[in-house]
Parts: sequence; structure tokens; C-alpha cells
Amino acid sequence: MHSFHYRDSQLHCEDVDLAQVAQEFGTPLYVYSAGTILDHYQRLDAAIAPLDHLICYAVKANSNRAILKLLADAGASFDIVSGGELFRVLAAGGDPAKCTFAGVGKSHEEIEYALEQRVYSFNVESEAELDDIDQIAASKGTRAPVALRVNPDVDVATHEYISTGKSENKFGIALDHAAAVCERAAKMRNIDIVGVQMHIGSQINETRPFVEAIKKVAPLVLELKSKYGIKFFSVGGGVGIVYESSFVSGSSSWWKEQAPARHQLSIQQYVDAILPPLREVKLRILLEPGRLLVGNAGVLLTRVRYLKQTGRKKFAIVDAGMNDLIRPALYHSYHEIVPVAEPSTSTKRDEMDIVGPVCETGDFFARDRKMPVLREGDLLAIMSAGAYGFVMASNYNSRPLPVEALVRGDKFELIRKRQTWEDLIHDEL
Ligand code: LLP
Repeated sequence: MHSFHYRDSQLHCEDVDLAQVAQEFGTPLYVYSAGTILDHYQRLDAAIAPLDHLICYAVKANSNRAILKLLADAGASFDIVSGGELFRVLAAGGDPAKCTFAGVGKSHEEIEYALEQRVYSFNVESEAELDDIDQIAASKGTRAPVALRVNPDVDVATHEYISTGKSENKFGIALDHAAAVCERAAKMRNIDIVGVQMHIGSQINETRPFVEAIKKVAPLVLELKSKYGIKFFSVGGGVGIVYESSFVSGSSSWWKEQAPARHQLSIQQYVDAILPPLREVKLRILLEPGRLLVGNAGVLLTRVRYLKQTGRKKFAIVDAGMNDLIRPALYHSYHEIVPVAEPSTSTKRDEMDIVGPVCETGDFFARDRKMPVLREGDLLAIMSAGAYGFVMASNYNSRPLPVEALVRGDKFELIRKRQTWEDLIHDEL
């Protein structure tokens, strides 16, 4: 679900008129719905309740401290991939003992920090990393809890950049090699083998690859359980969301014609599919959702700066750019774009590109998109931008980062202030 809808012909997030938020904080501006995030978290938590479990929110999807605090207060654990993410979780009041530390290239400094903070586990992706963690733990006179990340080699229908569970990807240890790595690890003085982890990719909208991967890895999990008494099996994240026609309520219906609704994998369908094979391993199960919790909970608000026609093409040049939301440029991903002031059903529609001010042809949000006739100054909402939106933003073209706001019911607050030009050069020597 999400909490963006037209009310009195204005797009609202929960009970807040988005035009008001843009008026107050300016654009480009990310707005998140606290209610949507909590609803997704609670529904996943309830669905997986038949199993002993931890929901480790993948911090990389949206790491603003206000979002982390919201989830920490709801009882979430965290999947982190850097010392910086651990630092953020702690700053948000999260518990390090509920953090799993993933990533193929952890630094010495990051491993030390995570050991000091006593994270729940290190998800180890290579033998070289295992050796490093053993040595660092020894030098600190402590033991490191380690889970092996295995690569189940399953095919996933998603963008090639975000598929991670094929043998040609850099992630994890090959399944047929994992038992041998564990045997080595078991002899290390400062390593405790505590679990098995996998993650096959992101934006996956069918249950088949999840089930296939779990079934492939389960025999190894059972073997390591009996040999080393491991405590958990983490099945990673990856559940997809709907980007097309995610927009469902309002009095007019022009947007429904834009793109065909895609099949959505619901939380319940996902859990119903993975529960049976997971029940059999009789261990604690970890889930690492990112996009599923926050993706549909955020929009990027941007204003139309100029309208322009060149040859046969029409362009709406908006004040957000690829530096604010890079997903269309990087993955050619589709994001629904709607005016904040609801167009009437009879509004004429125009085919146009919606582009940013950055000096690259790849700086677009939509191409040949049918939009209602736009005017300069119109406020647009780029939908489903709550995951991998702000976190992938940059200062490219020396543009200050976008700001972020959080809505709860009829209240909204700024959770990241706008950078100044002074901020852009602040760290330069
Ligand atoms: N666990 C691990 C080990 C991961 O690598 C990831 C995501 C997740 C969990 C969370 O996956 P999710 O539930 O969000 O699909 N920037 C890309 C997505 C990159 C995903 C990276 N890993 C995008 O904008 O689509």
C-alpha cells in the first residue's frame, strides 16, 4: 500500500497536501510517509510471525536517521554494508546487536568498529575476508560471529546491475565450496560460525527464484546446523514493488492509462511461498527487505522550470536532476510522474520527455511519456522514490543535495535541510 492520493484535487501524503510541503521547504524535495513504512514493516512482521525471525531493514535503501529511528522503534533489526551505516543506525538509537554486516569489501577499520560494537554477525563473502576478520578479532582479544554468504546461482528476472545470485556475480561463496570454507573457519581461533546468508537480487516480482534459492541452500544450512550449531539462515531482501500505475485513488483516472499495471508480489504471497521450505530448517530466519518497506513510501517533488520544443520533441525541464534521483538514468527504470494539482479527466495530453537541468542526455525521468498539458511552475511528484532515491544522490554539477521531509498523519517535518553553495566547498582543502 501507499498513502499518496488526491483529495480536494490536490495530491496528499497521508493527510498533508504536498503543495504545502513544497511551499515550505522548496524543491527538489523527497517526502516520505511514516504510516506507509510502518504498515509495510508490520505486515511483513505479522506474516513471518510463525517463524522465529528478525527483519533486518536494508539501510542502503534509505538511511535517513528519522527513517531508521522509525523502524528501530518498531522493533526492526538492520542489514548494514559499511561502517558509516552502522554509525547511522547507532545515531538513530538502533541496537548494534541487531545488525548484520554485509559487503564484499569491508575495510580493516570497519571490521574493528563492528567488532567493538558487537554486531549480530558479519556476512562473509570470501576466504580472504574470513582470514582478515579472524586476525582482527584476535588482535582485539575477541571472537567474531560469522555467517557465510553463499551464491545459490539462480536466475532472476531483474536489471542485470541488481542481480546478485548468479555464479558470475561478485557476491558470495559458491554453494559447492561453502562447506569446505566452513571447515576452515571452524578451525580459526577467533571465529564463531553462526549462520548462512544469501541475497539473489533486487526488484524481484515472482516467488519462484526465492523458493528455488532457499531449496538449493537448505541442505547446506542443515549440514552446518548439525556440524557447527549455526543459529540462523538469512534469505536476504529483493522483493519488488510496483513502479507502474502505482497510483490508485483519486477522482479522475487519466494516469491509469499511462502504463499497464504490473503483477505485484504481495507481502503475503512472498511469505506464503517461502514459509514451507523455511519451516524445515528449524532455525531463526532473517529477512533483509529494503525497497519493499520504503520504496512506495516516498516521492520526489519537483517543479517544472521551462517547457521547450525542439523539432518534433517536447521537453518539460524540471528542477530535479539525475543527481537527485539516478534510477532512470542508471537502470532505465520507470517512475510514475503525476502533477500535484489533479488534472481533470478532460485535460489534453501531450507526449514529452521530462528532463533535469544536468548537462547530460542521460538526465531524464521519463521519455515519450503522455502527460497532461503542463505549465511552467507546475509541481510534479515522481512516485515510488522512497528507496534508492536520496541515498544515491550526489552533488554532480555542483548541485546541492535535495531536502527530505517526513509526514505522519496531518503533520510534516524537515528531516534533512537544504545544502548551501558554501557546503559544496566546505570539505575542500
Ligand atoms: N540484502 C543485501 C545483501 C543486498 O545487497 C540488498 C540490496 C538488500 C538486502 C536489499 O534489497 P531490496 O530488498 O531493497 O531489493 N540501487 C538499486 C538497488 C540495489 C540493491 C542492492 N542490494 C535500485 O535502485 O534499484
